[in-house]
Amino acid sequence: MGRAKKVVLAYSGGVDTSVCIPYLKQEWGVEEVITLAADLGQGDELEPVREKALKSGASQSLVINATDDFVKDYAFPAIQANALYENRYPLSTALARPLIAKLLVDAAEQYGADAVAHGCTGKGNDQVRFDVSIAALNPNLKVLAPAREWGMSREETIAYGERYGIPSPVKKSSPYSIDKNLLGRAIEAGPLEDPWTEPPEDIYEMTGAIADAPDQPEYVEIGFEQGIPVSLNGQAIGPAALIQQLNGIAGAHSVGRIDMIENRLVGIKSREVYETPALSVLIDAHRDLESLTLTADLLHYKRGIEETYSQMIYNGLWYSPLRDALDAFVKKTQERVTGTVRVKLFKGVAAAIGRKSANSLYATELATYGAEDRFDHRAAEGFIYIWGMPTRVWSQKQRSM
Ligand code: ARG
Repeated sequence: MGRAKKVVLAYSGGVDTSVCIPYLKQEWGVEEVITLAADLGQGDELEPVREKALKSGASQSLVINATDDFVKDYAFPAIQANALYENRYPLSTALARPLIAKLLVDAAEQYGADAVAHGCTGKGNDQVRFDVSIAALNPNLKVLAPAREWGMSREETIAYGERYGIPSPVKKSSPYSIDKNLLGRAIEAGPLEDPWTEPPEDIYEMTGAIADAPDQPEYVEIGFEQGIPVSLNGQAIGPAALIQQLNGIAGAHSVGRIDMIENRLVGIKSREVYETPALSVLIDAHRDLESLTLTADLLHYKRGIEETYSQMIYNGLWYSPLRDALDAFVKKTQERVTGTVRVKLFKGVAAAIGRKSANSLYATELATYGAEDRFDHRAAEGFIYIWGMPTRVWSQKQRSM
C-alpha cells in the first residue's frame, strides 16, 4: 500500500515539481498523479507546461486560469487591509498560496483523489501556507511533500528525473529561486544570499533601472470604491487589467522594488528581493485615501488590525476564523473609502500628491490659517488644561517627594 492512490500535484513545470511525478509513483506507491498548474497572470505560456507534465508521467494535466479570482478575492482584500509583512513586503507570493490550495482541493474532490501534493522544501513559508490551507479546506485530504523528504541535491534531483525521461534544464539554470505572478516577483538565493551584496540589475523583469527611468514625472489617478481600485486615469477598468496596466506604468519608473531581510515563519532570516509595482502603488494610494475619509480613532485602530492581518497572510492562516473576522472588520471600515488619489511617479518613487472624496472628512474651515478659520482657538485652553491634568498631578507629586 502506498501513501495515497490518487494525488493532485501543484505543478510549475520546473525540475522539482516534474521529478515529484515519478517520485510519487515509484517511491511512494501512488497510482495516479494529476497535475495542476495555476495561471495567476505570471505571463508564462502554460501549454508547454501542460505537455511536460504528461511526458513526465501525469495521467492528466490541468491548467487553470484563476487570475481574476486572484486579484478580486485575494489581492483586493489585502489592499483594503494595507497588508505589508514587516511593514514592507506586500505579500505577492503569500497571497497566491491559499488560492492554489483551493484549486488543488477542488480538483482533488472533483477527481476523487485522496491526497494533494506540492514541491516545497522544508525551509520555506510556502509549505506552511499550502499544508495549513489544504487542512482548512478539507481536513480529510492527505498532503504529500516529496521534496521535504527526498534529501536529494539539485544534481541528484536532475539525475533522478533523467532516469524517468525528464529532460535536465537546457540553459544553465539560474542561481536564483524565483516566484512570480501578476502581483509581483520574489527573487532569492544565489548572490543575494550575501545581505551586503547589491542585487544585480539583471534580476529584475517588472521594473526598469532608476537610471533608465524617464526624466519627466508621470501622474496617475487611481479611483477607489469602498477601498477597491476601480479606475485608472478616469477610465473604469477590471481587476486584473488594472494591475497589469499599473505594473507597466509604475515599473517603467522603477517603482516597487523591495530589498529586505525577512523573518520566515520557520525561524530563518532570509534576504528577499521583490518587485511589486502596481501593488506597492495601490497600497500607498489606498492608505492615503483612508487618511482623508476615516476618523482618526478608526484609522489608528485599523493599523493594529492591519499588522495582524498581514502576519496571518504571511503565516499561512488565510483560511482561519481570525482572518475571516478581521476581514469583516476591514470590510466595514471600507464603506466610505471611495474617491481618487493622484500619484506622481518619478525615479523609483511613487508619492500621493493629491486626494479627493465625496466622503472627505477634511474641513477647510477648521484646517485653514486664513480668514475663513472657524476653529474656536480659545476652546483649546480648557481642553489642554484637562488633557494635561494627569501629567500636571504627576509632576507635582514628583517635586514634593
Ligand atoms: N519570501 C516570500 C514569501 O514567503 C517569497 C517566497 C518566494 N518563493 C520563492 N521560491 N522564491 O512569501
